[in-house]
Amino acid sequence: MKTKEMINFIIGNLKAKLPIIQGGMGIGISLSGLASSVANQGGIGVIAAAGVGMLEPDYYTNFRDSNIRAFRKHIRRTRELSNGIIGVNIMVALSNFSDLVKTAVEEKIDIIFAGAGLPLDLPKFLEGSKKTKLVPIISSGKAARIIARRWLKKYDYLPDAIVIEGPRAGGHLGFKVEQIDDPKYSLDNLVKGVIEEIKPIEEATGKKMPIIAAGGIYTGKDIYDIMQLGASGVQMATRFVTTDECDASIAFKKCYINAGQKDIDIIKSPVGMPGRAIINEFLKNTMSGKKKPFKCPYHCIITCDYINSPYCIALALSNAKQGKMKNGFAFAGKNAYRADSIISVKKLIEILKKEYSHSLN
Ligand SMILES: Cc1cc2nc3c(=O)[nH]c(=O)nc-3n(C[C@H](O)[C@H](O)[C@H](O)COP(=O)(O)O)c2cc1C
Repeated sequence: MKTKEMINFIIGNLKAKLPIIQGGMGIGISLSGLASSVANQGGIGVIAAAGVGMLEPDYYTNFRDSNIRAFRKHIRRTRELSNGIIGVNIMVALSNFSDLVKTAVEEKIDIIFAGAGLPLDLPKFLEGSKKTKLVPIISSGKAARIIARRWLKKYDYLPDAIVIEGPRAGGHLGFKVEQIDDPKYSLDNLVKGVIEEIKPIEEATGKKMPIIAAGGIYTGKDIYDIMQLGASGVQMATRFVTTDECDASIAFKKCYINAGQKDIDIIKSPVGMPGRAIINEFLKNTMSGKKKPFKCPYHCIITCDYINSPYCIALALSNAKQGKMKNGFAFAGKNAYRADSIISVKKLIEILKKEYSHSLN
């Protein structure tokens, strides 16, 4: 029987033992607990910045400082818990995007992942720092090309890697609803498309931009297969939710365990993008027109239509993170229904490695 070991993932001067990046999961799902555990197992652990301040006592009165303070705290705590590679995920659409990026650079974070919008000016925040790597998250080869060209021209900088996130991912999706199930937009095709678009830039500059594939990667065999197409690593989020160390409540994790395939569907998010979630009573009610009144003192996502939205998405996701599922819902990837137990990150990595090594047979 032939077997194969997972190979390292190299980004600039950093080398992760495993080609596995844990996807950032906002509103408290991936914080120091999950990020440090993944980094300790040889992957790249990622703290999500969206809504990081929501559990601070002054969040509603002091949006700006509470987020910066909580973000700094989580970065430092993760560092205390791990010597591995740590990243942060900062959505471009956040109204405090620049505060959060500046904080991450000040804290000398290893990697910033930035999606949900094109991070066209991200390199300007480095201000000469050579420590932090910059990785855009995009949904098409065209977006990869636009960002790489712009960064090169304006900042003499190229992405240190690129995450291409396909339509099977959880959370907000960078696709139109009709593209989501169209095979043209399969992750395989997207990976090939990005490689093709960035090839001329890599050839002209002599610099490699490793590709990280995301969205629906669930087993070690999935990792192996996508790497055969030219990806250097994968970003996985859904599979990490049902771990002991994931920072969400047990009730949130149980939603994944209890979900059937049919419960996972696309919703129209107030932020103007489609999103994938586990459909529950809260979503059914809001989709049928019931309003959940709320105040929006801070407008946390630039694109959010908070005036017409029946509910506050940040509040709904924060409730869910805390296990208050009657007043919230869980974002989840297309494969979330496959989870049947909550295990440690260590055990999950062992399973993925085993599945990967046997995928040659
Ligand atoms: C609960 C949840 C929350 C997420 N939050 C964010 C986020 O805050 N920012 C972001 O860029 N992506 C977010 N994502 C997307 C993931 O980082 C990841 O790229 C994607 O889910 C990968 O697909 P998979 O879940 O099938 O592995 C989220 C996904 C989930 C499941």
